[in-house]
Amino acid sequence: MSSTPIDLTDASVWQTATPHAWLDEVRNTEGLYFQEESDGPGFWAITRHEDVRAVSIDPSNFSSWVGGPLRLDPSPDELDQLRMVIIGMDPPEHRNFRDVVARAFTPKRISTIEPTMRAETRAVFAQLAKQDSCDFVADVAAIIPMWSISELVGVPVADRHRLYELSHSLIDDQDPEVAPTPETAMEAVAEIFAYASEMAQRARLNPEDNLTGDLLSAEVNGRKLDDLEFTLFFVFLIVAGNETTRTATSHGLLALLEHPEQFELLRQDPSLIPGAVEEILRWQPPIHHFRRTATCDVKVGGQQITQGDKVIMFYAGANRDPAVFQDRHRFDITRSPNRQLSFGVGEHFCLGANLARLQLRVLFEELIASWGDIELQAPPRRLHSNLINGIKEMQISYQPRT
Ligand code: HEM
Repeated sequence: MSSTPIDLTDASVWQTATPHAWLDEVRNTEGLYFQEESDGPGFWAITRHEDVRAVSIDPSNFSSWVGGPLRLDPSPDELDQLRMVIIGMDPPEHRNFRDVVARAFTPKRISTIEPTMRAETRAVFAQLAKQDSCDFVADVAAIIPMWSISELVGVPVADRHRLYELSHSLIDDQDPEVAPTPETAMEAVAEIFAYASEMAQRARLNPEDNLTGDLLSAEVNGRKLDDLEFTLFFVFLIVAGNETTRTATSHGLLALLEHPEQFELLRQDPSLIPGAVEEILRWQPPIHHFRRTATCDVKVGGQQITQGDKVIMFYAGANRDPAVFQDRHRFDITRSPNRQLSFGVGEHFCLGANLARLQLRVLFEELIASWGDIELQAPPRRLHSNLINGIKEMQISYQPRT
């Protein structure tokens, strides 16, 4: 290694900026780079596109169940709960669960909500047409993800804002501004769990045609889900649906503002938006990493790994791998093909990918139609987290089109 090692577990590092120079070095390491941890046994950092793919498509050798999907080693109780959530399962249980949930996320079912999603998005911009500045994160990027996930699972309008706040304090608990004390996150967990359990009870009495109804009526692995299993899935969906798409939207506008020639291209030809969305996801993966645990002695990228070792896949590393992306440090909305891995790949490939892509497309179409010149009013404030690539606040000014 030619430069001073960077601690990939340090949230302050990621808060400042994704450490691309270091990820480039780690990717060039012969074999894999081993990252020591102050709060764990250390892990193998996976940064090559080929290796992230190899690990993700091989759940029998790289398990989400053995040690959970997150870097920090969970307590036995936490691990029990993680194993009840889709993202912490392995096949065959995982496949059976996923088959039930996947019905709600097919491109066909998702496309049916496009007209109402567009109307909601237009309403956001219509409201903002009365002013010429806003916090893009709170006033735009946060709104449609919560709306979409609420429509899918059937959260009443009156409860949505509170659930959004809870999901934020629960997952962004590394940031003292979001969760000032450990109790903040724990209280959020308790409140959101109680909410989900009440919702399950209501839905059992009055089944509705939505994902909650599908989940509660379906048999998974030969039996119906109990309250705790439903609650855990519900909480995971609220978090997975909110934090990620909000982050992608905020980074999307930021990347376009930082590359005005690309923004101009998009304004001239909005049919480029789907490609721009893929490039936004490649450029700034909303989630920095997920984890697997080796179930046997196995090789990755020429490196011998021992059974029980932790491997962490860094999507920002894979998305800037020169073996796959030409001119990888260039933001190029016309990049094609674009094999970005921000939604993961293989067994646990993001179920919400169609929904997220739709939200991002509709949002940028409406943004271009609604606003002329847009300017950053202050540097965006980034989240203190080594997991979520979040932006907390982004003050902008804009010219509403009449
Ligand atoms: C830009 C937005 C999003 C990004 C970048 C993203 C990213 C990811 C990634 C990387 C995984 C794979 C985890 C692994 O391999 O262990 C994943 C899984 C998942 N995501 Fe997303 N996600 C996004 C939006 C959403 C939305 C909107 C929803 C739902 C409303 C959602 C629901 C899920 C679910 C249910 C899984 C678990 C799939 C499984 O374990 O089989 N995601 N997501």
